[in-house]
Amino acid sequence: MEQKKSKLLIDTDIGGDVDDALALGLALNSPELEIVGITNVYLANQWRANVTRNMLRVYGREDIPVCTGAEKPLIGWWDENRIPNSSRDFGEIAGSPLPPACDFIVQMAEQHEELTIGAIGPLTNVGLAIAKAPYIIPKLHIVMMGGQINRAHPEWNIVCDPEAARIVFESGADIRMIGLDVTNQCRFTREEVDYIKGIGNPRTDLLGEMMEMFIANFGYLPILHDPLALSALLWKDLLTFAEKKILIETGGQYTRGLTIDCDWGEGASVRAAVSVNVEEFKKRLLERLVL
Ligand code: RIB
Ligand code: CA
Repeated sequence: MEQKKSKLLIDTDIGGDVDDALALGLALNSPELEIVGITNVYLANQWRANVTRNMLRVYGREDIPVCTGAEKPLIGWWDENRIPNSSRDFGEIAGSPLPPACDFIVQMAEQHEELTIGAIGPLTNVGLAIAKAPYIIPKLHIVMMGGQINRAHPEWNIVCDPEAARIVFESGADIRMIGLDVTNQCRFTREEVDYIKGIGNPRTDLLGEMMEMFIANFGYLPILHDPLALSALLWKDLLTFAEKKILIETGGQYTRGLTIDCDWGEGASVRAAVSVNVEEFKKRLLERLVL
């Protein structure tokens, strides 16, 4: 009997770090997943939506709805002129008119028995959806790239919008957190980048182009943060999770955006990744990306 596919919505800041594109490539090449929509978040949303739609065109999946989302965090700093730089500008690519990302997330949760959110950017859209319609919380399974435990160094997706992260973490939704302490262990080598580029199909050509642009602009090889997070939806044997109580620091002179692992009872209950089988993950990721 065919297993029922879980409905997946991917919330992404694609176009900055190239790992979002690699995560999307992994999801699009994985028949186990049913992607019901992609929402963009954090700065230059229209530009990110065009990058997303271009990718869907190349993968032959223009049927997947793409929504623009929150430009700025709930509170605090953002650079409205900053254009992310691991992708060309593909110009305006038309899509069907859709509500803003937070409303689309609510609609998807209402329409389906359960909704899995692959959150691979700052948590503003997801936080807004939860704040607007808390009745969707019991339906949500959130698998997120973000934070890190036992290290006093804030991670990008949390530090960009700690208030939204706090709403999400404290919502009581089912959350799996794949943090920087684990994702940092998973990196492509030059040979692996070249292997993908050498395959020579339109999908690998696009990923190759985006990876080269990322390497030129950022000065290092791709780190596989976001694909590792989404791999938790595909393979149960790669990541080990532990139950944790996590506090999100929203104040602090030096500590804003930290995810603090507190075992004294306070904090949101989440399952946090604590280890990964790096070589097996990269092997399976490569197999999927070259399809
Ligand atoms: O800290 C890593 C995260 O920040 C990843 O999601 C990456 O894509 C960037 O957004
Ligand atoms: Ca990301």
